[in-house]
Parts: sequence; structure tokens; C-alpha cells
Amino acid sequence: MVHTGAVTLAAAALLAALPVNAGLYSKSSPVIQVDGENYDRLIAQSNYTSIVEFYAPWCGHCKNLQPAYEKAAKNLAGLAKVAAVDCDKESNKPFCGQFGVQGFPTLKIIKPGSKSGKPVVEDYNGPRTAKGIVDAVVDKIPNHVKRVDDKTLEGWLADSNNTAKAILFTDKGKTSALLKSIAIDFKGSIHVAQIRNTDKEKASLELFGVTKFPTLILLPGGKETEGIVYDGEMRKEAMVAFLSQAATPNPDPAPAKVKLPKSKDSKRASKAKESTNSAEDAATATEEVLEEEATESPSPEVEHEKPIVLPEPAPPIDILDTEKELHIVCLGSKTGTCILVLLPNYPDEVGAAAVGSFSEVAHKHKQHNRKLFPFYVLPEKNGGYAQLKGALGMGNGLEIIAVNGRRGWWKKLPSDGTIAAKDVTEEAIENWVDAIRLGEGAKEKLPEGLIPEEEEPVGEEEKPAEEPVVVEEVKVDEAKAEEPTASLKPHDEL
Ligand SMILES: *[C@@H]1O[C@H](CO)[C@@H](O)[C@H](O)[C@H]1NC(C)=O
Ligand SMILES: *[C@@H]1O[C@H](CO)[C@@H](O)[C@H](O)[C@H]1NC(C)=O
Repeated sequence: MVHTGAVTLAAAALLAALPVNAGLYSKSSPVIQVDGENYDRLIAQSNYTSIVEFYAPWCGHCKNLQPAYEKAAKNLAGLAKVAAVDCDKESNKPFCGQFGVQGFPTLKIIKPGSKSGKPVVEDYNGPRTAKGIVDAVVDKIPNHVKRVDDKTLEGWLADSNNTAKAILFTDKGKTSALLKSIAIDFKGSIHVAQIRNTDKEKASLELFGVTKFPTLILLPGGKETEGIVYDGEMRKEAMVAFLSQAATPNPDPAPAKVKLPKSKDSKRASKAKESTNSAEDAATATEEVLEEEATESPSPEVEHEKPIVLPEPAPPIDILDTEKELHIVCLGSKTGTCILVLLPNYPDEVGAAAVGSFSEVAHKHKQHNRKLFPFYVLPEKNGGYAQLKGALGMGNGLEIIAVNGRRGWWKKLPSDGTIAAKDVTEEAIENWVDAIRLGEGAKEKLPEGLIPEEEEPVGEEEKPAEEPVVVEEVKVDEAKAEEPTASLKPHDEL
């Protein structure tokens, strides 16, 4: 009790100490927050088109744009990335300077170039409305969808004849943003084509026996003889799940490999420089010119030779990719307490916030040299995910549990049935973690058979998780950028 109170007080003090000019976009906003540190991975390396707003929290036009920008982000979920950089933050000033930002807000559309990691950067000077932004960005979505007809079908099928293929049969002539986004998700693993329902495609329709439109057919081995017809809704999430039987969608952003901070920084700096070479010069049409505004505005002539000192970000908690990892570090007969964030495919904002909060809490403890049991993300693609959920009688969504394999107990993060944003704030997570540390609250018995009987090769009574498995990491604020849940908007209809 006393302990929890102290934590709350400490959190309140921390909040009070935070600078007042926080950014315009909260952690739960659909707008991704970008900085010099994560730009390369989130935006420059992506196969998706992004729009990035360079803003300052004090700028009136930026505040006016915020609702429209968030609306655009919602409408573009799954189709393109909508991001923002707070140029008023000291650590972001050199980064904004590199992009030649001279006034706020400056909007730039960043489209993948022919070389990976070298995007094409263009200013967006269109209307500052959700529709204006959405239309401009949709127009710049890379199109890897081949339009095929009777004459070209055979050639398309024969090309890389072992590569999985997907064909959408449709009444429409234009390729939808939705289909383009699907081709981006499977770029490199599934060739995507579109066949229109007209006289020029009669033979193709007959070959596949298609009579209704739209129809999506998957050829897992690339051969026309093996078509699997999709019978679900024409919604991105479901379609991607269907196509995933032939190939795994590209993770975007690509998971970060663990690297030494030094080499990472120098590499990133040079990358950022390269990207700006293609950036067009100063935004001219911005309405707020720095010189006329506050004195703390970043000067576009910033020198970037000096190393940028960034506050140490909380490293993201580890992801368990395989069932084996899960059993070694968390669900073994000798493993101690650990927390699992059971993260469904296409996590929503709550899932992203949960991962963020656990990362912050783990980081805080580490900084204070306090020993704490480990936290892991257990993603849906891990075979142990479905098994664990089944055994514990859980539904589809995000679930968060603490579990102790050695003692055979588990407990759920408290919520009103479904985990909501308020359940996964840093404070809520910290309080829950503290309660577990203090052994408070009821525990449930783990069902039989969940923990493998055989001896785990880990040994070591007290610290089973000390020898960490090599797992890939996903950055906290990037989880949000992963494939979104969004139901698609009218303009994405097929
Ligand atoms: C598939 O491609 C390979 C190599 O390009 C070729 O040898 C083979 O004959 C092709 N098979 C079919 C069925 O077209
Ligand atoms: C981009 O596409 C390539 C295939 O061309 C793929 O290997 C890579 O993983 C994709 N990158 C991301 C970040 O999705």
C-alpha cells in the first residue's frame, strides 16, 4: 500500500517536472512521432510512402492542423505513414535543419526511391485538410501491382514461376490503395496482379473460373493450377492474413538488430545526410516564418558536425519469436516470474502503449540498478501464443499476464474485460509490477500441460532468464507504426 502510494507520488512529481511544451501528438495519437534517431528505420527504409510534418508546439497553424492531420493518419492507416517531428525539441533541431525546414508547419511527402533507404522527398503545399493530405499521399503510394490481361497473363505467370502470386479480379480499372498496400506488404515474396472484368480479359477469367467481382485468388507456388479463392471481406487485415499462408508479410519497420550504440549513431548520421541530399530546398509556402516567431526557433544553418546528444531512450522489451524461446525464458519448469504481453498481429494503439510502458518501467529499474523480473512481447506469430491463449481460455485481443513456471501460477493485468489505454499507462503498469513484486493479489493455477515436462537446458535455480536468447527488438514508439488495424475507408474500396 505504502509502496504504491510512493510510486504514485513519484510519478506525479515526475509529471510536474516535465516541460510544459510537450509535443502536439500524444503517445496514443495515430500520428507517428519521428526524430533524427528513428527516421531512418521508420521512414527512410520503409517500402511505404510517408508524410512528415515538421512542427513546433507553439505554432498556431500547427495546432490548427493537428485535428486534420490526425484524421488523415486514421484514414491512411495501413496505406501510408503519417508522422510528425517536434522541431522545438533541442535534440531534433539539427534533424529539422537537415531537411531545410524554415517555417512551421512544413509538410513533406517521402516516397521510397529506386534504391532502398534513399527515398524521394517532396514538399506538400496542398490544402491543410485531411482530404487534401490523404489524396496527395494516396497518389504517391508505390504501385507494385501489375495490371494483366489475356495477352500478358501467360508471361506474368511464367515470370519467376516459383514465386507465390496473388490476382485480384475486379470491375475497376484503377488499382486501389488497398491492393497497392498489400503488394507493399508482400514485396519480394508475392507478385500481385490485377485483372479487370472486360472483354480483353475473358480468357483469363475463364481460366480461373471467376464470375464474381472482386475475387482474390492466391497461387502459393506461383502456378495457375493451384489457385485458392479468398472468401472473406475485402479488408486489409483479413486479406493479409489470407495471403500469409504463402509468405510472411514484410515487417515494417524492420526489427532493429542489437548493435553497439556508437556504430549505430555514426551510421545513422551518414544515412540521414544522404537522405537529405534528395530533399528539396526550403519550404516556401509555410505560413509561419521562424525569424518572425520565437527566438528559440531552430536556425536552418545548424551545424551538424557535432554529435547530437539524445536522452537515452528506453530500449524496447524483447520479443519472443519462437516457442522454444518462450519455454526457455518464461514458460519452463524452472523459470521464475515473468510478464508476457500477448500481442496480436496488427496491434492497435493500446498494444503499442503497453509495450511502451513496459519498456519504460524496465528501463527505469535498470537505470536504478533494481532487480526485476523480465518482460517480453509474445507475438501472435509465435506458435506458443495460440497455445497459451487456448489453455488460459483467452479471446482474440491483447492480453497481458504475469506467470511463474516454477511455482505454477499466473495472473492477468486487471482490466474491465478488455484491456484499455488506461490499463496500460506507465503508472498503471508500474503499480501492477510493484504489486507482483510484493506478492499482492490473487494468483491462478497454471493449467496442466502448459509447461513442458522435460528438463530445460537452462539450469540455474534463481536466474533462468539471465542468459538471454538472442531476440530481435522492436522500438517502442515504432510498434505503433506496425501494421494497423484500421478498417479501410471508402477510397480504398476495390
Ligand atoms: C519455370 O522457370 C524455370 C527457370 O526459369 C524453367 O526452367 C521452367 O521450365 C519453368 N517452368 C514452367 C512450368 O514454366
Ligand atoms: C521492403 O521490400 C523488400 C523486398 O523488395 C523486403 O526485403 C524488405 O524487407 C522490405 N522492407 C520493409 C521495411 O518492409
